[in-house]
Amino acid sequence: MADAIFQPLEFKNLTVKNRVFRSNIAGRLDNYDGSGNHARINWEVKFARGGVGAIISSFVPVQIRGRINLGQPIDRTIGNSDMQPVWNLAKHPNSTYHWDGLNTNLQEVVLSSAIGDGAPLKWVDRDFAKWNATRPEEMSSLRRISNFISSTPPPKYPFAIDAALAQTGAAVFQGECASCHALDGPRTGHVIPLAEVGTDRHRLDMWRQPAATAYNAKGEGHAWKFSNFKQSDGYVAVPLDGLWLRAPYLHNGSVPSLTDLLEPVDRRTKLFWRGYDVYDQTRIGFVTDGPDAQAAGTRFDTTLPANGNAGHMWGTTLDAARKRALLEFLKTL
Ligand code: HEC
Repeated sequence: MADAIFQPLEFKNLTVKNRVFRSNIAGRLDNYDGSGNHARINWEVKFARGGVGAIISSFVPVQIRGRINLGQPIDRTIGNSDMQPVWNLAKHPNSTYHWDGLNTNLQEVVLSSAIGDGAPLKWVDRDFAKWNATRPEEMSSLRRISNFISSTPPPKYPFAIDAALAQTGAAVFQGECASCHALDGPRTGHVIPLAEVGTDRHRLDMWRQPAATAYNAKGEGHAWKFSNFKQSDGYVAVPLDGLWLRAPYLHNGSVPSLTDLLEPVDRRTKLFWRGYDVYDQTRIGFVTDGPDAQAAGTRFDTTLPANGNAGHMWGTTLDAARKRALLEFLKTL
């Protein structure tokens, strides 16, 4: 429990029990021109002291100087989304990054994330000049990060797997899921239109073309100029490597376990606590309820705006035996 992630953050009337929680405070604390006011800056600085887990998103940078001010009006959209796993990227087809595939260029994603998380533009200019250096001691730091997340394999499921059952499940996966999720699937890595996937739409409403255009303009005059930011109309059919560790599921982390995801929406868990690190080998995901999970975790109410757990109905009508086999197979990814 010595980890900074689990040290409570105390405010006058509020205790944040751990720091692994999603936040989008932009638009609530900011000035109308998009710049941060004092409340906002104080929050950033206080949060940044947390160390591991304190970086929430590049829209909410650690240091206010890292704010990518797009000059967009405050529109009160809510862009809740989980971090996507950053591993094995070289094996992922179509290189679509972020849940909505807003960019297809890893270099741009790495650079813009660094800026968003506080790297000064002058530092980025200097680092980028070394992008193609090959000697490790000369190579750009961001390039090394990019190489690391491209080649690092996902952690393997650490508990027992029933190999025969998983093999039966592989066939179910092939028939029901592989077209969108196998590394060689024809739709894997592509954006699936919102009308087809049916999940919560708030994240898409938050990132519209004016923001993408402003982001592209941000690098004007720099050697690393951006040109690939764009708006999409759906969410990416993500490769599922290291799936067991990625709970809670979907772009907004609204479905606590793989068992829940294979249930029709009215039978999925509606209220849970995320951020507790004990694993539930039966439901496949983290333990999200009970006194310990409630004490360590952050309450997630799927009825709140942007927390919706609907959609992604694939696999929900399979019979119980095929679901069990599929779940066993999903542990092997
Ligand atoms: C037509 C394409 C398509 C099919 C078929 C499909 N999915 Fe998906 N899947 C998606 C999309 C798109 C997302 C992202 C949706 C979101 O996050 O809002 C997704 C997300 C997921 C996630 C969440 C991943 C994470 O990191 O949170 C899991 C798990 C998943 N799918 C499992 C399955 C399984 C199991 C099947 C087969 C029973 C299946 N999918 C069939 C398109 C598909």
